[in-house]
Amino acid sequence: MSQAALAERSAKVRSSLEAITFEDGIGADIVGFDFDNIDEAQVAQLRSIWLQHGVVRFRGYQISDEQHMLLTSMLGEFVKHPRQLKGEEGAHPRHEEILVIGNEEVDGKVAGTMGNSEATWHTDTWFYEKPPAAALLHAIKLPPAGGDTMFADMYAVYEAIPEGLRKELEGRLVQFDRVYDAAGRLRLNQSVPDTDDIRLWPGVRHPIVRTHGESQRKCLYIGAETSSGWIVGLPLDESSAILKELFDYVRQPRFHFTQVWEDGDMIMWDNRCTMHRRDGWDGQYVRVMHRTTTEGERPFYTY
Ligand code: SIN
Repeated sequence: MSQAALAERSAKVRSSLEAITFEDGIGADIVGFDFDNIDEAQVAQLRSIWLQHGVVRFRGYQISDEQHMLLTSMLGEFVKHPRQLKGEEGAHPRHEEILVIGNEEVDGKVAGTMGNSEATWHTDTWFYEKPPAAALLHAIKLPPAGGDTMFADMYAVYEAIPEGLRKELEGRLVQFDRVYDAAGRLRLNQSVPDTDDIRLWPGVRHPIVRTHGESQRKCLYIGAETSSGWIVGLPLDESSAILKELFDYVRQPRFHFTQVWEDGDMIMWDNRCTMHRRDGWDGQYVRVMHRTTTEGERPFYTY
């Protein structure tokens, strides 16, 4: 293709990418993305829309695993969840970059992680030093009902909490345990702790109010409802009461967008400033999703 034709195509792509904002608090549909010609200009425009809206959806596209992975690779370095590595329950048959989430049985064995149960509020891979920035979840097979995914806007939650509480949290660290996963199972290479004091468990510490590495806005970062979190320096009962109060905010529908999946939908969320949960579904039906994630910055806080 000549330079002139390339320039014309690139200009067309730039001018045709559009964001249609959802009526709910956050999120937008992306219209006009060309998965057959993913280039830097398109990805730059997509990144800026995604940073603004926190959650974007591709609906009505045919997206292959290869296109899904190519887009992800242009957004950042892949993060590989422990369950997506070769031989693990969420491993993709060919691509270690993809986590398979679902309940489909292949050769008499469930070929996916997380099963069909409800998943409570969390951010992805919050127990890593550098949790993911982007997560891209592609619907491969869907049940007739259930399995909706809810996203919460953590900038808005941060702004909504009472000022006194905000001041109490600014600059503090929260410790998340690395021992158990969201389903309460021991994580790979972990053993049952020999104490009930969660402060002594292997964990990772992150600022509970974090400054987003790209937007520079502040948001609340509280890992997962199921994690044994401790706000470092506070007595345990006080820390637990505050975390409970914060999750009560996250649960308020005014901060949410609900994704009712349609065949082939792909959602790309910013894992730094959103949380998500999903509904369960009737286990006689199959739901299979492919997820990729990209490395984010080490969470930090600036006054
Ligand atoms: C996830 O928690 O990343 C998966 C959400 C879903 O299955 O809808």
